[in-house]
Amino acid sequence: MKVALGVSGGIAAYKAAELVRLLQDRGIRVQVIMTRAAQEFVRPLTFAALSGEKVITDLFGAGAEQPNIDSAVEHIAVAQAIDALVVAPATADVIAKFAHGEANDFLTTLFLATTAPVVVAPAMNVNMWEHAATQANIDTLKKRGVKIVSPDSGYLACGMIGAGRLAANDKIVEAVLSALGAVPDLVGETILVTAGGTREPIDPVRFIGNRSSGKMGYALAEAAVRRGAKVILISGPTALKPPASTEFISVQTAEEMRNAVMAHLDRATIVIKAAAVADFTVSKVADQKIKRKGPMTLELQPTADILAEVGAKKGSRIVVGFAAETWNTLENARKKLVSKSLDAIVLNDVSRAGIGFDSERNAVTILTPGGAEDVPEMSKWEVAHRVLDAVVKIKAERAQQASRR
Ligand code: PMT
Repeated sequence: MKVALGVSGGIAAYKAAELVRLLQDRGIRVQVIMTRAAQEFVRPLTFAALSGEKVITDLFGAGAEQPNIDSAVEHIAVAQAIDALVVAPATADVIAKFAHGEANDFLTTLFLATTAPVVVAPAMNVNMWEHAATQANIDTLKKRGVKIVSPDSGYLACGMIGAGRLAANDKIVEAVLSALGAVPDLVGETILVTAGGTREPIDPVRFIGNRSSGKMGYALAEAAVRRGAKVILISGPTALKPPASTEFISVQTAEEMRNAVMAHLDRATIVIKAAAVADFTVSKVADQKIKRKGPMTLELQPTADILAEVGAKKGSRIVVGFAAETWNTLENARKKLVSKSLDAIVLNDVSRAGIGFDSERNAVTILTPGGAEDVPEMSKWEVAHRVLDAVVKIKAERAQQASRR
């Protein structure tokens, strides 16, 4: 997927830098186009470094004094290469030019040349936003199918309070993902996803935890929503915002996670367990904070194996586990696949740097009873889609078997 990100000349232009990364995390290539005014706020080099792509700053290549035919027709080439155009921030000037079909710079020319979906995130002074001319231009764009991500209200750079603040980046990402669409191949499914690490208390202030950030599970939940599923997300503590449109349940301990999974299992048609559930818990949790006094021994006992319990009650569900292995990886993962009656298990070799726990990227092998699919290192968003692709394949194989009976 490739998206053109138009940045126009408002103080919020700096926020577009983070938007580049958020879109890249979802496996989307981003080509930044800056208006002349935008370059007063942020240097093109910033976006070039972030996006890894050429930043387009004007219609005629190196500058109007050196018209360059390649650059002049570049907007047509870009228009044909992108899957969506998002403009964030969009100034009142750019919105007016879009509404009136002006094309006197690269961004406005691209807007007219592309047939891809367009997302516009306005940002400006409250009076400019509320002005009848701006609102009329916004209405015109809406009528032509442009998705407007309405500005937030609050403290504005000009010192005033009111509507006009650029919408939060996660709202803009949501709008872009919606514009990009996704194959709605999980419509009608209710997917129970577990994510994050659990915390086993030692005393009122200490716990045994692990390095799971929840990113893998949250990516699975968000991707599943995008593909039309209803998602129940049961999560240990993380620093992440729950993906929009998921039913979110927060837990702390392995026991709480087990109870939440079993309480919602009946509603699920698919279960994907990406959570790093503690295998051991403290046998006796101290009532008071344990004082420092020389060596201390903790007695640990095994926690309930939730995945095994879910597998045993699988019924007609599709159950997908994860395996965080560091040695003998394929053999250990395949053992879990069989012993827990799973339909698939997603193996990640967590001894590898840069993937697995608390990373933006992952590299996995999706094992099924009949095979194995290697998924090379990529963003967890893309890995999530590959896992869901495997789930859709299992669904299709089951439907085929059922039709043969
Ligand atoms: O959260 P991130 O930072 O994005 O990192 C992602 C991840 C590395 C946590 C994820 O990709 C992953 O590997 N999750 C599984 C981690 C884990 O606990 O693996 P495991 O091999 O110990 O457990 C195997 C399976 O049994 C897992 O599906 C786990 O959810 C489940 N399990 C484990 C213990 C237990 N008591 N009950 C369980 O259900």
